[in-house]
Amino acid sequence: MALYLSMIITILNLLLSITISQASGTYQPRDVILLNCGESSPIKTSDGRTWEGDTLSRFLPSNASMLSETSSASSQDSSVNPVPYMTARLIHSNFTYNFPVVSGPKFVCLYFYPLTYSSFNSSTSFFSVTANGYSLLSNFNAYLTVSSINHQASSFFKVFVITVWETEQLKITFTPSQSSFAFVNGLEIVSMPSNLYTKDLSFISYPLVNNGDLFYFDNSTALENSYRLNVGGKPMLMIRECFERGLMIRTLSWVIWE
Ligand SMILES: *[C@@H]1O[C@H](CO)[C@@H](O)[C@H](O)[C@H]1NC(C)=O
Ligand SMILES: *[C@@H]1O[C@H](CO)[C@@H](O)[C@H](O)[C@H]1NC(C)=O
Ligand SMILES: *[C@@H]1O[C@H](CO)[C@@H](O)[C@H](O)[C@H]1NC(C)=O
Ligand SMILES: *[C@@H]1O[C@H](CO)[C@@H](O)[C@H](O)[C@H]1NC(C)=O
Repeated sequence: MALYLSMIITILNLLLSITISQASGTYQPRDVILLNCGESSPIKTSDGRTWEGDTLSRFLPSNASMLSETSSASSQDSSVNPVPYMTARLIHSNFTYNFPVVSGPKFVCLYFYPLTYSSFNSSTSFFSVTANGYSLLSNFNAYLTVSSINHQASSFFKVFVITVWETEQLKITFTPSQSSFAFVNGLEIVSMPSNLYTKDLSFISYPLVNNGDLFYFDNSTALENSYRLNVGGKPMLMIRECFERGLMIRTLSWVIWE
């Protein structure tokens, strides 16, 4: 595990024919966790979802106050949603959120708004994130990530798919790089249908984008949503961003993590 395979695959419509109807109609996720990092009170957003604050949360390690602090963004662009982006947890030493969830595949979204928090400028923040042994981000800098796309600080989120096994909880660990700090504005964890991207039948495979070779994977492979190909469609409404984004997109590319 924790090996980045450096391969990109494209998943096409065919696999999702079964699960889309399930997704849009009757699928009820068992786990829905919306954690607004650095905030103490629950806040309901205009899409009707309630984000719980993380400061008194049962998901925090008991020594959270030794390892981290909370802060509000130094300023906020009016185009950025206040929840979960207005507040952050700044992490100074290895820090693990521990989520009791049922087994099965989960969407995991990490929300970032790379500004200055207290005296900490996120441009100097480098860190890694692992989840149950999968390496999700490595020596990651949210400020550089977003300014390479937009040329200005803005909010964004990263979406991953991770299978949680029978005996596990979902442990998400932030590890600051040497003499640096980590930060995160929000965490979202939502159960997903078990056959959305993998099938019980082992002969389902996907062509790799770069050379067309077939790649096989099952639910022990973690995925990161890498590119979204909007194929001649209308822009999608992203009300329940992470979750529906994961479910509704039919043609997309994933980076594969093992
Ligand atoms: C914080 O607690 C975790 C376990 O809950 C432990 O592994 C870690 O060493 C502790 N860190 C410090 C700095 O005490
Ligand atoms: C934090 O985790 C990293 C990677 O697992 C490890 O190398 C490092 O020793 C840990 N640091 C502390 C203070 O526990
Ligand atoms: C992983 O996939 C196998 C084969 O489809 C299935 O039997 C198993 O329940 C899945 N495990 C989880 C935790 O989703
Ligand atoms: C944070 O660092 C960036 C890059 O060095 C710099 O452009 C920006 O002005 C800094 N922000 C603050 C509030 O100091």
